[in-house]
Amino acid sequence: MKIGSISGYEVRVNGISMSFLNSDSEKVVLHDISFAVASGEVLAICGLSGVGKSTLLKLISGLSLPTAGQVQIDSVVVNGPHPGLGFVTQDYSRSLFPWLTVARNVALPFKALNVSQEEKAAKIKQVLISVGLEDSSHLFPWQLSGGMQQRVAIARALVTQPRLLLLDEPFASVDAHVRLELEDLIARLVDEHAVTTILVTHDIDEAIYMADRVITLSGSPAGIGMEFDVDLPRPREQIISRAEARFSQLRTDLYLGLRK
Ligand SMILES: Nc1ncnc2c1ncn2[C@@H]1O[C@H](COP(=O)(O)OP(=O)(O)OP(=O)(O)O)[C@@H](O)[C@H]1O
Ligand SMILES: [Mg+2]
Repeated sequence: MKIGSISGYEVRVNGISMSFLNSDSEKVVLHDISFAVASGEVLAICGLSGVGKSTLLKLISGLSLPTAGQVQIDSVVVNGPHPGLGFVTQDYSRSLFPWLTVARNVALPFKALNVSQEEKAAKIKQVLISVGLEDSSHLFPWQLSGGMQQRVAIARALVTQPRLLLLDEPFASVDAHVRLELEDLIARLVDEHAVTTILVTHDIDEAIYMADRVITLSGSPAGIGMEFDVDLPRPREQIISRAEARFSQLRTDLYLGLRK
């Protein structure tokens, strides 16, 4: 079911490179990376630790700007943080404010927007229901389990109904069971809202389960290693989809590709 008529953004990454200055030397992390993400598509980005995945996601969000090339969102060049984005950063626990309740943490993205109190309250209530935290809105982050904190971060990223969702290892620090639940939660929300999604993950199975397409980053400086479509039917189901022969073939291809 699609909610509303808003469609996800189309993203174009055109020849971007990124360097950092460390003391007196320059480190080139990304070199000449290009790819596109269609409206409503779920793209997974995989690569070994330190290859530059988070750096790439920050460039797409506009939180940092590339040293060469450009990112376009719906054909507009990104030159600063974009209002239509939801971003779950890698270190989600540090991104929640411990002195604010769940509801007030989730309300933070509204600060930059002109939304009435009634509309804000209704949207917070709705998103907390959809992540299963409706009874926890008055609690503080330190009163929640890791999985619940992650759901708060996801709720905050979704509360303003973004048209592009950027997820950096959003399920990294929860147990396997909660991880599968959160994967299905995101898959359902992404489908309902037709939001374009870019998911960074170390987890090969997760990339294939979640994505319409996978790209890998490899090398130093990193470029695109491999790129392939995930031609598995939707809706997917944890047990059934993962048991399919095609799933296991794609998993093997991705595993071998990451080790090249
Ligand atoms: N602000 C920065 N200043 C200097 N170097 C940086 C900065 N941000 C990232 N780097 C460097 O860029 C490289 C890529 O880092 P990045 O965090 O993008 O990797 P990653 O693929 O997300 O790794 P992980 O899987 O461990 O999260 C690393 O060598 C890192 O030290
Ligand atoms: Mg990272």
